[in-house]
Amino acid sequence: MYTPEKEKELIEKTKELLKLSIDDIKDKRQAEEIVKQLREVIRYHDWRYYVLASPVISDYEYDKLFHLLKEIEKKWPELITPDSPTQRVASGLTKEFPEVKHLAPMLSLDNSYDEEDLRDFDRRVKELTGLSEIEYAVEPKFDGAGIALVYENNRFIRGATRGDGIVGEDITQNLKTIKTIPLYADFKKYGIKLIEIRGEVLMRKDVFKKLNEERLEEGLPPFANPRNAAAGSLRLQDPKEVAKRKLEAFVYQITYATDEKGENLLGTKIRYHYDAIKMLYSLGFRTPIPEKEIKVFKGIDKVIEYCKEWEKKRDEYPYELDGMVIKVNDISLYPKLGMTSHHPRWAIAFKFKPRQATTRIIDVVFQVGRTGAVTPVAKVEPVEIGGVIVSSVSLINEDFIKEKDIRIGDLVLIERAGDVIPYIVKVIKEARTGKEKPIVFPKNCPSCGSPLVKLPGEAVWRCMNANCPAQVVERITYFASKDAMDIRGLGYNTVKKFYELGFLRRIPDIYRLPYEKIKQLPGWGEKSVENLKKAIEESKNRPIHRLITGLSIRYVGKVTAKKLAEYIKCVEDLKDWTVEQLQSIPDIGYVVAHSIYDFFHNEENIKMIYELKELGVKTCKDEEEEKREKILEGKTFVFTGTLSCCSREKAQELVESLGGKVSSSVSKKTTYLVVGENPGSKLEKAKKLGVKILSEEEFLNLLEENKK
Ligand code: IVH
Repeated sequence: MYTPEKEKELIEKTKELLKLSIDDIKDKRQAEEIVKQLREVIRYHDWRYYVLASPVISDYEYDKLFHLLKEIEKKWPELITPDSPTQRVASGLTKEFPEVKHLAPMLSLDNSYDEEDLRDFDRRVKELTGLSEIEYAVEPKFDGAGIALVYENNRFIRGATRGDGIVGEDITQNLKTIKTIPLYADFKKYGIKLIEIRGEVLMRKDVFKKLNEERLEEGLPPFANPRNAAAGSLRLQDPKEVAKRKLEAFVYQITYATDEKGENLLGTKIRYHYDAIKMLYSLGFRTPIPEKEIKVFKGIDKVIEYCKEWEKKRDEYPYELDGMVIKVNDISLYPKLGMTSHHPRWAIAFKFKPRQATTRIIDVVFQVGRTGAVTPVAKVEPVEIGGVIVSSVSLINEDFIKEKDIRIGDLVLIERAGDVIPYIVKVIKEARTGKEKPIVFPKNCPSCGSPLVKLPGEAVWRCMNANCPAQVVERITYFASKDAMDIRGLGYNTVKKFYELGFLRRIPDIYRLPYEKIKQLPGWGEKSVENLKKAIEESKNRPIHRLITGLSIRYVGKVTAKKLAEYIKCVEDLKDWTVEQLQSIPDIGYVVAHSIYDFFHNEENIKMIYELKELGVKTCKDEEEEKREKILEGKTFVFTGTLSCCSREKAQELVESLGGKVSSSVSKKTTYLVVGENPGSKLEKAKKLGVKILSEEEFLNLLEENKK
């Protein structure tokens, strides 16, 4: 369909178009020409993606082209033609999700905020059931996006969002990408033919943090919290994109279950909620873990104690929780207790203290980051959110300020999700007095004064002066940070001080610090200088991916740095790589490849790397490092049960980083089955096939031996 020459031409054209933004298009004539080009390249990339399944640009870049076309067509609607890619209503990209009726209405929960509310609830339950003591199951309340899953004859047949509670959206294809939702589960073993299970789709706090960092890098607005990120991801039109978001599903309630004859099993064969959860857990679902996360108590006092215990440790939990849910354990009591149109009377939520608060913006300052990006930061009246005092909040970029119409003096609603940076959810415009002042973005860098530049297609203003003091201090600090060369004692304040004193002007200066002079500085003594010297010496031998991370190459964080390191022997080798070669590395797209290429074609940077090498910093992998990297090559791991060390994702990452593979089912090809707490049926299968079984401890020892 396309000759190699034509493809080359279209890729070149793509590069040019990616540099454009709507503001660059001056008149209709130019718009007409660009629209023609955009349509041609988008059609080409559609063909590469859908027909060949071998795209040459990242989804992000594709979206950028598509977005630009849409913007131009919005500005000059007369340019829209029926064959424009934007008019493809029935395509996978723009279609809506079909509606689907839930088997049982998806009700909400009644809320309680203190002990008294819970005691009232207990009194009501006792009254309605006529019992003197009630048994409750208590479990975490997961703060994500609600879903309902339907299994028929052991197969996952449908999954939906909550919608209006009666009718939801069919998102089966997206849910199928979530590994914690089994596509097959042996419900028949329990006499169940048709079952509906409710749950929540969540994003781990650390995954959320990373996603937001990436979005900011790409100039996209960040999500306010993991819940919004999970809900937004679930509604993406492309299941492949959904899969990249690393979502997880937790299930916590059976809302419908019938046998072969169509008879209801809830309250009879499925009598207790706790047992229902245990059943789901043993079938391979991620539920609140029996005894660890869900517990049964007699009487409300112990329930209250358990809820408070969890509120204290909510920050340590890898997922956002917004409370606990207390459910009457005996399902046969549910009909007697009944429900309102909003919530059942057999359950109640105990809400934790909110993560949101309102406060006022006092001032806005502008910070310069290590890549020159200038970030507006609002100074706010200090306010406590979830046990932490918040006094400054990032305003992300100019677009964010405009979109939310944020002004100095405004009352704002702030949210702080877990250990994530605080975020402005909204401006309370009703509280305006008219004295609020607009935020004026500076034209010059607040550190070095050079003019700020906004690159085409980017949302951030940048200081382009690589020697700008603020940038240099940030870059050196990052080089020494935990994610990069891990030099303890060389934090921001020390770097700043050494910079001001002229000791540190470029990264290589770290390895020639004047220790004798430092000893004379106030606050520094023999011992602290010794420690710093030792930490710096130790950093010379770090694995090379840490050095790559520390170089502050745009779009190259620690994950990409690790990937890159797998393909090279020495960091300096990268100067000989072409953009095409770089793009052939998995997960490295056009933009990242270009950024790496540009970095290694800058003389200053190459000089710096050779200088570091000369100063004794390891820039090439040693033999041992190379061997270690591939130690698990050819070995396939399968996991069953819950690991206490880490999430499945993390364990998988560890295995893959050493060259091993992870599979979801046991077969003859499996090398090891790693068994966590409450293993599922995979254990039996592995035993039958004679697959080697490792306990979690043995697994960790195996990794430890090979750890970098
Ligand atoms: S039970 C009819 N259990 O919280 C009862 N809900 O704010 C079904 N949620 O709509 C709900 N964790 O989406 C239940 N362990 C848990 C939960 C939970 C989170 C969600 C659910 C509900 C919302 C109410």
